[in-house]
Amino acid sequence: MAHKSILFLLFLAQILLHAEKIIAKVPAIIVFGDSTVDAGNNNYIPTLVKSNFKPYGRDFSGGVPTGRFSNGRLPTDFISQAFGCKPTIPAYLDPQYTIKDFATGVCFASAGSGYDNVTSDIVSVIPLWKELEYYK
Ligand SMILES: *[C@@H]1O[C@H](CO)[C@@H](O)[C@H](O)[C@H]1NC(C)=O
Repeated sequence: MAHKSILFLLFLAQILLHAEKIIAKVPAIIVFGDSTVDAGNNNYIPTLVKSNFKPYGRDFSGGVPTGRFSNGRLPTDFISQAFGCKPTIPAYLDPQYTIKDFATGVCFASAGSGYDNVTSDIVSVIPLWKELEYYK
């Protein structure tokens, strides 16, 4: 019984060691979607669907409202960090970032967007097809 437990622990340790290698192979996180993952693209388009004001971002580094519909980082930011990429994914339309920054992760999401064109048209945000165009 004790042997089995030790073998199992060794097996688990092996998996964790290899998991680290697998994680290290993720070069970038690319994000498409709506307000749940928008890192601030809507700040740069004429729409009412924005969150670049307090109390948004109050728990973000520096307490700044970034355009994320959140008090802090988004789930995609945490996922990026967990994969060994950067702790926050930059918004594609944010002029302070360049293609070099986007090589390790970029967010094309737009709050209020949806799978159907009508959804994004109603609130004047980036439709999903255009998020893909930006990616191309
Ligand atoms: C959404 O709009 C784009 C651009 O006008 C168009 O190419 C695409 O076919 C539309 N999609 C649907 C499902 O209507």
